[in-house]
Amino acid sequence: DNKIGIGILGLGVVGSGIIEIINKHKEMLYKKTNCYLSIERILVQDIEKNRHVKLNKDILTTDAADVLNNPHVDIVIEVIGGTDDAYLFIEQALRNKKHVVTANKDLIALYGRELHDFAKQQSCDLFYEASVGGGIPIIRGLTDGLVADEIEEVMGIINGTTNYILTKMDEEGVPFEKALQDAQDLGFAEADPTADIEGLDAARKMAILTRLAFHMDIRLDDIKTRGITNVSLTDLKYGKELGLTMKLIGIAKAHGDTLQVNVEPVFIANDHPLSSVKNEYNAVYVKGRAIGETMFYGPGAGSLPTATAIMADVIHVAKNIQLGITGKSVPMIERSARLSPHHL
Ligand code: HSE
Repeated sequence: DNKIGIGILGLGVVGSGIIEIINKHKEMLYKKTNCYLSIERILVQDIEKNRHVKLNKDILTTDAADVLNNPHVDIVIEVIGGTDDAYLFIEQALRNKKHVVTANKDLIALYGRELHDFAKQQSCDLFYEASVGGGIPIIRGLTDGLVADEIEEVMGIINGTTNYILTKMDEEGVPFEKALQDAQDLGFAEADPTADIEGLDAARKMAILTRLAFHMDIRLDDIKTRGITNVSLTDLKYGKELGLTMKLIGIAKAHGDTLQVNVEPVFIANDHPLSSVKNEYNAVYVKGRAIGETMFYGPGAGSLPTATAIMADVIHVAKNIQLGITGKSVPMIERSARLSPHHL
């Protein structure tokens, strides 16, 4: 039987994108995985809600146990977000020997290492490509493409909502509140957009990138974080006159034996590649000892881009299941003894 059962926790912006991709690309997915990906159960808050995606209502449930304890579910996709229920659900899924794919940056920033260890102990896969940079394969980029290098610096625009807001303010003079509302309507913002505009979402993503690039678990308290709520149209106008564009930038950089990680709005020169990253797009610039400079660029938020990263993980797990080599997770080595966090 070459069917692999999927359970999804959450059917919001990203969950709907997953259904859309599976429905649209059934045949291609079959060819690529050599198995049929079957959605068995989806946890939702309201079964009767009107949804634009095509699906059989019988697979919807309001009881997480229908997904987590379901013998037909092999892979659990978590797209509810937050750290309370999501943590318990993922732990339960792994306990039940289900592989997990998640987009949850809050959770992975805080508990990525312990969930990694638990998944391994359970011989389960745990992947989270969608947690940073939406559709950009930055996690694979760091842990696979650049695995042979020693990373010296990671710098990027890693929050789509704030980049969208800053672009609209800068280019069209749209007021902050209106630009934020548009970003929410387009499905870029978090349920509570405070995390986006205060820089917390970017800080969590920096914590994940720091762990993978520098092998260091940085506490969110050790990341100097400032959002964009104090940025005014006047600031942007003056910047423009000087040939500068304001961006919310996350930087992780080694200074001697300490690592400094910051998230803050900074003016960058208009001839710098990061200044041309607009709207919900993200870009992560990585400097490595051997490779020199490289930059990853693409849509950092939104339904289909994020769902694409999730499906890439699902396909990865499906292949591992068929090869009998599960127990894999995003590669993570022991904590570095070389670097310590730069305390604020
Ligand atoms: N709210 C996030 C952002 C979604 O705007 O970047 C993608 O992680």
